[in-house]
Amino acid sequence: MNKPEPHIIVIFGASGDLTKRKLIPALYDLFVQDLLPENFFIVGVGRTELSDTGFRDKMSGWLPNEAITHAKAEQFLNVTSYITIDTSDAQQYHLLKDKLDALRKQGNMPENYIYYLATPPSLYEKIAQGLTFAGINKDEEDVSWKRIIIEKPFGVDLDSARKLNKSLLNYFVENQIYRIDHYLGKETVQNVLVMRFANGIFEPLWNRNYVHHVEITSSEDLGLEGRGGYYDNAGALRDMVQNHLLQLVGIVAMEPPIHAESKAIRNETLKVFQSLRPIKEEEVAKYVIRGQYTGATMKGEHLPGYREEQGVSPESRTETYVAMKFFIDNWRWNEVPFYIRTGKRLPTKVTEIVIHFKKSPHHIFSHQYETINTHNQLVIRVQPDEGLLFKFGMKIPGAGFNVQNANMDFHYSDVTGVKLTSAYERLLLDCMQGDSTLYIRGDAVEEAWAFVQPILDAWKNHPDIPVYGYPAGTWGPEHADSLIEEPEITWRYPCKNLSNDGEYCEL
Ligand code: BG6
Repeated sequence: MNKPEPHIIVIFGASGDLTKRKLIPALYDLFVQDLLPENFFIVGVGRTELSDTGFRDKMSGWLPNEAITHAKAEQFLNVTSYITIDTSDAQQYHLLKDKLDALRKQGNMPENYIYYLATPPSLYEKIAQGLTFAGINKDEEDVSWKRIIIEKPFGVDLDSARKLNKSLLNYFVENQIYRIDHYLGKETVQNVLVMRFANGIFEPLWNRNYVHHVEITSSEDLGLEGRGGYYDNAGALRDMVQNHLLQLVGIVAMEPPIHAESKAIRNETLKVFQSLRPIKEEEVAKYVIRGQYTGATMKGEHLPGYREEQGVSPESRTETYVAMKFFIDNWRWNEVPFYIRTGKRLPTKVTEIVIHFKKSPHHIFSHQYETINTHNQLVIRVQPDEGLLFKFGMKIPGAGFNVQNANMDFHYSDVTGVKLTSAYERLLLDCMQGDSTLYIRGDAVEEAWAFVQPILDAWKNHPDIPVYGYPAGTWGPEHADSLIEEPEITWRYPCKNLSNDGEYCEL
């Protein structure tokens, strides 16, 4: 792989949680693997007064434990520096420009900059404006480039997403804007593309003729982790469904792109979002179930209910769980139901996509009991224990023709020597290479919001639509079962083999 061109990455919100938990460890890993260019600098930007040394001290505590004794850690810290500016004041951005000019001179590099906005979204426009004011926003064709990475939420509804897109386009052009959805950086998600489009056997079956329904689950056992203030205004629909889950739908449901390049792939996922059958406001109660966790004992520990969490209103009606059913109105998926669900304080952390195939048309074996009830399933495990599992019926050895389910499985962990890169590593490297395939384009963000907007409206306008309580540590409100109208079908409970401490969930 070619190394990225020399550049400087500027992190706004440099003392924040995202920088600490994701960005610095990911950049360090890329550095250790020698995937960064020779000439490369990291500049932290924030309002907090900090010297370069103060910033480096802080960062050394954010590196992975094994880095402490690693000679590379010191080299890594040496390419980092910090500048204190009030990011909401455009007049101060010339200080940043001066700093970048000095570093460029030192490294003899072009004006290639990545701006990572690890800040609250309220600052996005101000930062873009400040960079423009200082004249460090524009690409110079064949000479230098500037890229800006922004984190979700990209707006809080359709209207604000449109406004945000429009305002960013005053300062940057679309192909400079990298909207990050870390689910697209997960190895197994990208593997869906390879599995579908590099193999002959799956694609012929991947449509309404053979697929009975598609199910996507993204569950978390954790609660709010100190993010009550943000979460209570967001809720699971905005936090997980509008972005991560719909991106998974896009990848699973898209048509084959003409090649594996950014524009082609992103055009196809956009078409999926454009084909989502709108759930009308009056249908929301039927097709979308929301829930909120209540206090309960989980893994031997008493956990507070959502309304008792710090930063959450005691009367809050914010959903911590969403399950929904919808359709994709296109040739491939006509009338195939898609069921998706996500929630906090569910029994375990697992994300998986399950393709449920249609049953054999005629049952000739009297004891086809298991497959009769379960259909063949292809389980794509996104996390943990990344891999694939195919469930099919086989003959029980011995007399007669008794059928039982068997599993064929593939675990990434079994492939020796393969270290799965973290989503942030992969995505940062892609941006450095100028590859936006796994970033979200502005039009796709708006289409995804257009799909969830009637749900937000219905919940706002019809407070009688219930928010069902569910005890922490359970699989969410039972009402979610009613979404699946066929009596013999249920949600797949991914962790039948959940160990007693709830930590391990077998594929
Ligand atoms: C984030 C959400 O985008 O994704 C969090 O804001 C959620 O609430 C997280 O916990 C889940 O990501 P992952 O990679 O841990 O599944």
